[in-house]
Amino acid sequence: MKKILLAASECVPFIKTGGLADVAGALPKYFDKENYDVRVILPRYMCIPEKYRNQMYWIANFYMYFNGRDRFVGVFKLEMNGVTYYFVDNEEYYSGSSPYTDARYDIEKFCFFCKAALAVLPTIGFQPDIIHCNDWHTGLIPVYLKTEFCRDLYYAGMKCVITIHNLKFQGVWNIPDMKQFTGFPDDLFTSDKLEFFGQGNMFKGGIVYSDAVTTVSDTYSHEVMTPFYGERLDPLLAARSNAFYGIVNGIDTEIFDPANDPLIWKSYDVSNFRTNKKHNKQELQKQFGLAVDPHKMLVGIVSRLTDQKGFDLVARVFEEMLYEDMQFVILGTGDRKYEDMFRYFAGRYPDRVAACITYSEEVSHRIYAGTDAFLMPSLFEPCGLSQLIALRYGSVPIVRETGGLKDTVQAYNEVENTGTGFSFANYNAHEMMATIRYAEHIFRDDKRRFNQIVERGMQQDFSWHASARKYEALYDKVCGW
Ligand code: ADP
Ligand code: GLC
Repeated sequence: MKKILLAASECVPFIKTGGLADVAGALPKYFDKENYDVRVILPRYMCIPEKYRNQMYWIANFYMYFNGRDRFVGVFKLEMNGVTYYFVDNEEYYSGSSPYTDARYDIEKFCFFCKAALAVLPTIGFQPDIIHCNDWHTGLIPVYLKTEFCRDLYYAGMKCVITIHNLKFQGVWNIPDMKQFTGFPDDLFTSDKLEFFGQGNMFKGGIVYSDAVTTVSDTYSHEVMTPFYGERLDPLLAARSNAFYGIVNGIDTEIFDPANDPLIWKSYDVSNFRTNKKHNKQELQKQFGLAVDPHKMLVGIVSRLTDQKGFDLVARVFEEMLYEDMQFVILGTGDRKYEDMFRYFAGRYPDRVAACITYSEEVSHRIYAGTDAFLMPSLFEPCGLSQLIALRYGSVPIVRETGGLKDTVQAYNEVENTGTGFSFANYNAHEMMATIRYAEHIFRDDKRRFNQIVERGMQQDFSWHASARKYEALYDKVCGW
């Protein structure tokens, strides 16, 4: 049996702030269970809902030297849907109301998680062949493994893979503090290792010390080797290009299934969406006080409200777009300026704009099911899951051609009648607006064609099966299996 431990800072259904949690929650389910034993490790946050915390059982606790003293490390276990999860416990570090709090403290607590995730292994009785790390929070696992833990026979020979979900966040902090937290010697803070423009960089450490590096779409894997997308790690990624792979994400087709989704008003699939989906639209319009009208194109947004997602383009032309015969429903939280913008427009144009400035699984499913189109004009998008969910729910994606959006949404071609969505190339508000208007024109004047776009989108296969095979092949290669 090949043994893999996937380490992540968030994981569905326990704790989620974005797509990383969806990936950590879904991917382990899709491995070939006969040959791969894939388990997951994450912090035991106090903000994990009680119903899951109650199901975890305690395995062990011990003290580990970290940041100047011996600190408590507890480890809990939970088995669910055929996957084993381990939770690293330390109430001092993981009692916040969300997984991420302030920057300095996040650095310290994820440094702790990286060391503890390795330290718990002998006590939990799982000796992985590979540790699969995800994003900067787990970046020091490969560093600890390859510089300290490997001296112990138990860890010798263990490999590491790290996946980049978002290069924007790298876990960068001043070197004296990072040295104090980790106990790493000076010679790890050189420019070929953790040092990064005078500071310490956890993600960089992870990329340097991993046996292979992946990211979540093919296009993003090329983009990050350029200065615009590379966030100053482009030279390192280019240097690692022989061990750098793009493997596109899938979605959990059990959770996101319009034919069997208890959160939506009426189920539908590709054979009956023409009659059943509109019921969801009508209810959504009612729930949010929008004008109940099947002929107005209803555009959905479900997103973290940050610059990454292209909301400055929306800000630039939103009011102009509202003069058209369109409606918007927005679900998201994030930067204050975008939250306030959507609240303002919802107040001013209540029949056309609804803003739900919160985090809600239920509302998100209802938006995917009840909207005609789904807007995602991202500045950069490593993969993007929302557009995949939208496709599956027959909400036609309108996207900018970047990263995973480019790889997963095929632009409508009027001549050949092909495509699953609408897209534009340049990061330009009027280009976005023209594309939305074009989509609205097809929606209004050529319903038959619009429905064919919906149909093609719903027929796409975005399950994890194909990508899980690629991770298996990568693990095999890294371990020489
Ligand atoms: P990112 O990881 O960059 O936030 P993705 O598109 O990969 O973007 O994943 C976002 C995930 O988070 C999707 O499953 C989306 O439905 C969900 N999501 C984002 N914002 C909210 C929200 N306010 N309420 C519920 N779900 C949300
Ligand atoms: C990140 C990216 C998003 C990706 C997700 C899961 O949060 O922003 O594009 O889909 O990780 O890999």
